[in-house]
Amino acid sequence: MNFSELEKSIGECQKCSLCQTRKHTVVGKGNPAAKLMFVGEAPGEQEDLQGLPFVGAAGKLLDQYLIACDISMEDVYICNILKCRPPHNRDPLPEEEDACMEHLRNQVRLIRPKIIVCLGRIAAKRMIDADFRITANHGRWYNKGAFRMMAVYHPSALLRDPAKREDMLRDMMEIKRLLETV
Ligand code: URA
Repeated sequence: MNFSELEKSIGECQKCSLCQTRKHTVVGKGNPAAKLMFVGEAPGEQEDLQGLPFVGAAGKLLDQYLIACDISMEDVYICNILKCRPPHNRDPLPEEEDACMEHLRNQVRLIRPKIIVCLGRIAAKRMIDADFRITANHGRWYNKGAFRMMAVYHPSALLRDPAKREDMLRDMMEIKRLLETV
């Protein structure tokens, strides 16, 4: 599968009922040859309208961390577990995640990142460990096959709780440190 085939299969996907309410599918943004891949939860309202991930308030905050850690958009590829917006931004249902995982697997195969960073609990539970505890285990490296993986707080959680921002900066700086070595 190549990138345009991936985009076509996501654009035409009807594997779950979110296809009935989406305005756009949201595949990803950034450099498809990046060594660092961020995986969030699901598109929100702005993402659904624009067809791009992390373009709303949470995305603007994520951009600030990337700038602060001297990570450029050329260094990263950003996507989500779900490619369609859940109504009213509710949490993804397990069956929606199940239906969407094939798209993410294809995406990882195409991008072949060295480092995968989960943005928040939902992505970490799906990609690192079903019992993942974000408060206890953010910022730790996990080896998963060919990948180094970490979970950090979701930027939306940082908007709700600014006390977490110091930890986020530390974790992002650790990601930058490893990125320089891979
Ligand atoms: N939150 C996410 O998890 N993903 C987005 O693309 C936007 C907000």
